[in-house]
Amino acid sequence: IESLFVTQSLKGKKVLITAGPTFEAIDPVRGLTNRSSGKMGYALAHAAACAGAQVTLVSGPTHLDTPFQVTRVDVESAQGMLDACLQYSSQSDIFIAVAAVADWRTANVATHKIKKQDDNDVPMLTFVQNPDILQTIASRNNPPYCVGFAAETEHLIEFGQRKRLKKGIPLLIANNGPAAFGADDNQVVLLDDAGIHELPKQSKISLAHTLVAEIAQRLN
Ligand code: CTP
Ligand code: CA
Repeated sequence: IESLFVTQSLKGKKVLITAGPTFEAIDPVRGLTNRSSGKMGYALAHAAACAGAQVTLVSGPTHLDTPFQVTRVDVESAQGMLDACLQYSSQSDIFIAVAAVADWRTANVATHKIKKQDDNDVPMLTFVQNPDILQTIASRNNPPYCVGFAAETEHLIEFGQRKRLKKGIPLLIANNGPAAFGADDNQVVLLDDAGIHELPKQSKISLAHTLVAEIAQRLN
């Protein structure tokens, strides 16, 4: 079945993809993370490779196998993900940000495990905002064609278009977050300068091939 989808629509193109969650350490045994299985990003990496692209997958911690013919770079934190992306972005034709990046990290990572207090006091954690990887890459000189993903829980189209313009990217793929987390299928809406394009609900694997075709079409 999969071969039905396969064209060489990205032949010779270099594609950089982020996937999975990031993990922001609080101390050596605890951290802050986001809900993401990595399935959508890994499926896209696989589909892009099937379409003839040279794919680099910058991945936060997941339980998934590296897709065939994809170069995987493992990272943990948002800063680590940004550093890796900056290394590859200037040689990339397309950047697809699928990772669920933690928006904040603690201002300081404790060197030792934070112990419970005898007086039952709770620790005071101070957070700082993480860099926006997608916006950073999109605002560079001569950027790759940048694609974002957004999981929203309300006002999908309105919030999505606003987010796309704020990040300065040509294409944003929006979905209903909780419905897609960990699931094998997904329903998305493509938002670009031309407006709204809704895709039917389908498996993440099939959706990945459809999205690769949509991206390839916009690239030309
Ligand atoms: N993204 C990123 N770096 C971040 C945050 C988000 O690269 N620090 C990317 C995601 O990979 C995704 C897109 O930006 O492709 C949208 O992520 P989202 O979390 O929906 O957007 P935010 O700008 O963080 O807005 P908010 O979480 O407040 O809705
Ligand atoms: Ca966010």
